[in-house]
Amino acid sequence: MDYKLQFAQCLTNLLSEHLTKQQVYELIEVPKYASYGDFAFPCFTLAKTFRKSPALIAKEIAEKLDDSLFEKVEAKGAYVNVLLNKTTVSKQVIETVLQQGNHYGDMSLGEGKTIVLDLSSPNIAKPFSMGHLRSTVIGNAIANIAEKCGYKAVRINHLGDWGTQFGKLIAAYKRWGNDEKIKENPIKELFNLYVKFHQEAETNEQLEMEGRAWFKKLEDGDEEAYRLWKWFRDESLKDFSRIYELLGVSFDSYNGEAFYNDKMDRMVHLLEEHGILSESDGAMVVRLDEKELPPCLIKKSDGATLYATRDLAAALYRYETYQFAKALYVVGHEQSLHFQQVFLLLEKLGFAWAKTMVHVPFGLILKDGKKMSTRKGRVILLEDVLKEAIALAEQNIAAKNPNLENKDEIARQVGVGAVIFYDLKHERINNIEFSLEDMLKFEGETGPYVQYTYARAGSILRNAKTVVTSDIHGLEDEESWEIAKLLAAFPNVIQKAYEHLDPSLIAKYVIHLAQAFNSYYAHTKILVEDEGLNSRLALVRATTIVLQEGLRLLGIGAPERM
Ligand code: ARG
Repeated sequence: MDYKLQFAQCLTNLLSEHLTKQQVYELIEVPKYASYGDFAFPCFTLAKTFRKSPALIAKEIAEKLDDSLFEKVEAKGAYVNVLLNKTTVSKQVIETVLQQGNHYGDMSLGEGKTIVLDLSSPNIAKPFSMGHLRSTVIGNAIANIAEKCGYKAVRINHLGDWGTQFGKLIAAYKRWGNDEKIKENPIKELFNLYVKFHQEAETNEQLEMEGRAWFKKLEDGDEEAYRLWKWFRDESLKDFSRIYELLGVSFDSYNGEAFYNDKMDRMVHLLEEHGILSESDGAMVVRLDEKELPPCLIKKSDGATLYATRDLAAALYRYETYQFAKALYVVGHEQSLHFQQVFLLLEKLGFAWAKTMVHVPFGLILKDGKKMSTRKGRVILLEDVLKEAIALAEQNIAAKNPNLENKDEIARQVGVGAVIFYDLKHERINNIEFSLEDMLKFEGETGPYVQYTYARAGSILRNAKTVVTSDIHGLEDEESWEIAKLLAAFPNVIQKAYEHLDPSLIAKYVIHLAQAFNSYYAHTKILVEDEGLNSRLALVRATTIVLQEGLRLLGIGAPERM
């Protein structure tokens, strides 16, 4: 349904000796004013070849261009402007969407290829913060989009379940821990211990040493240390699963940092073999001076391995397990140096696939303009936010539609949808100011607005007593034309979202489609019994299909009623 491509084809038929279809395609613009046309082809670059003025060339092309696809072809200055034929195009688009259903927009770009995504990856024994929400929902949406493009997507939750912080946590537990309290409310209690540890450590140097010693024990396989770690991990996972269930996100693997403990020696050997490991103050590092990056720390002087070492081992393991065509790391931009180091190191080891690894950074969620920090306790808990959002959705339902069937599930879809959409509508790389109030608005550019539009369109279809048939006429009015153009653009939007690895393109798209639909609804008497009825219903049906699929790609449900 790429009409730009079809216009490019018509032009290429005339210009094939001089420009390829691709070149033509890239030259085509969308005019500033809709009245100029749907597309414009600038003739400046052809002036040299034809030794004529661009305006004359435009005139000649306009005269020769003839296709039932266009309602009007016109040379305006150096441009050939075309207006698509509303009747032909809207009929084609609606028919295609109805025929293909939720497969409309499927692509074969990634056929036979696997893409692995490292996403979510919260840290054990710490609350699941709003920060981890971004990685989870952005990563999940990118995975959905990649699947729509034909890739097999593997979602990996690289749990932060190893590292010096567990030494500290065990040390804190040994000093102040209370089993009963931990069992009652594991993450909260463990987190309290962790915060207390850092507060006390400011005045008590002994603590840091204890923490380091416990981590060393843990790495050496000490039984008590291991048992406590395992307990903390299991309890945390129970808490996380609840959140993932609410969010409707699942993973193919929960292999976290600890999973690579027995795979790091091999990595260290590889680095040695390549002669790139060097010593620095007793620690082992790889120097990355050639790219002006700070050295990458592989082993501390006490032999403890690091975050980067585990990421190196994980990358190799993933390549050997999945033979990925691409590996994405959906992690905040503050870790960008870390990934530069890791990717460069893998390249130095001669792995050709290192070039296919991409850090997909995203902005922070700020609270009053400041970064949230688990350590300082300035943190908003995702689970609280989700619960509040769901409660608000419940209130709305109770007020507007108290007899709604399946109320609880719908409230979940709407509340959670609000939170996910709020995140995804922001360009991935931008920081977001946390505002529960904005997040939970059920009008404006929000998830619930799109969901509501979907449900409204669905109710029109239910109220129409006829079944939509394939006997569709084209539609000519401005409002349906807006919808038809947007429907036609959907595959392109998906592809762009994939290329930019940015779900916000889809979030903005569904908002536009919902707005176009609501304006259509306000202007048109859809259910009047006349010869246009079936075509109007077909347009409504096509809109519901694309809205639902757009929301699905974002990881958001579309309730039939709300
Ligand atoms: N657990 C880390 C954090 O919360 C994120 C891990 C990202 N993934 C990775 N392979 N390093 O900051």
